[in-house]
Amino acid sequence: MLDDAEIFAALSKRYTRSFTFRELRRAVQALSTLYVERRKAANKAFDSDGKRAAFALYYGTLHFLTVREVVSRLPNAIDGFEKIVDLGCGTGIAGAAWALCADCPATLGVERDGWAVGEARWTQQLLGLSGRVYRGDATQWRLPGSGSGVLAAYVINELDDEGRQGLQNSLLDAASRGATILILEPVARRVAPWWPQWAERFEDAGGRNDTWSLSLPFPDWFVDFDRATGLNHAVVKARSLFLRGK
Ligand SMILES: C[S@@+](CC[C@H](N)C(=O)[O-])C[C@H]1O[C@@H](n2cnc3c(N)ncnc32)[C@H](O)[C@@H]1O
Repeated sequence: MLDDAEIFAALSKRYTRSFTFRELRRAVQALSTLYVERRKAANKAFDSDGKRAAFALYYGTLHFLTVREVVSRLPNAIDGFEKIVDLGCGTGIAGAAWALCADCPATLGVERDGWAVGEARWTQQLLGLSGRVYRGDATQWRLPGSGSGVLAAYVINELDDEGRQGLQNSLLDAASRGATILILEPVARRVAPWWPQWAERFEDAGGRNDTWSLSLPFPDWFVDFDRATGLNHAVVKARSLFLRGK
């Protein structure tokens, strides 16, 4: 299994090969603006090679470390999984973080963007995970039950109201059939105004609603991007809903 330094070196090698630091820094800034103006993010985050590389490198690293830290702090979040299903998996790094932490051999990604599907397959290979990545709509995916962890990391805020409500119902249904559900989003209220209603339903079903302030072991190049862009991840804030399948 690769250690952190090897993982970050592989990401850096893959995603910096066609771009200068300055180009990637600009792309990180553009992405950060899109994610603040949440409505445009869904369509524009992957609309240029530079933004795609910046997403995979910078946000991929952020999501990898955040998910890993959250699952290691949540009680009962890392035992007994045969498979992690990663909805809206992007480059697959968030689901891989959970799988590696849980010593789970496989991830199954569902992603609507073709470029991201290819990168998620590369991530599985890099990290020694088996499983498939499908191009499709996460809101229409038939979710598995017991033995599975189902992750929705930073994706629910990209769905429209109908898709979001449908996914909530299928996540709760999967939990009732034994799946363990983990949802992650940023803490900013404007990014996820729907959070209180989701939290209420997950808590009613026996789940947890947590807000995290995390200090994460970023590689030096990540800190360089933070410095150059004026973004600050000395403390990473995130929130999660977690419902352990029975
Ligand atoms: C902010 S990214 C997060 C990616 C990944 N979960 C992570 O944590 O790094 C959101 C991802 O969800 C995908 N996505 C958005 N709506 C989707 C849908 N309805 N079905 C499948 N993927 C979707 C986007 O293409 C994008 O890759």
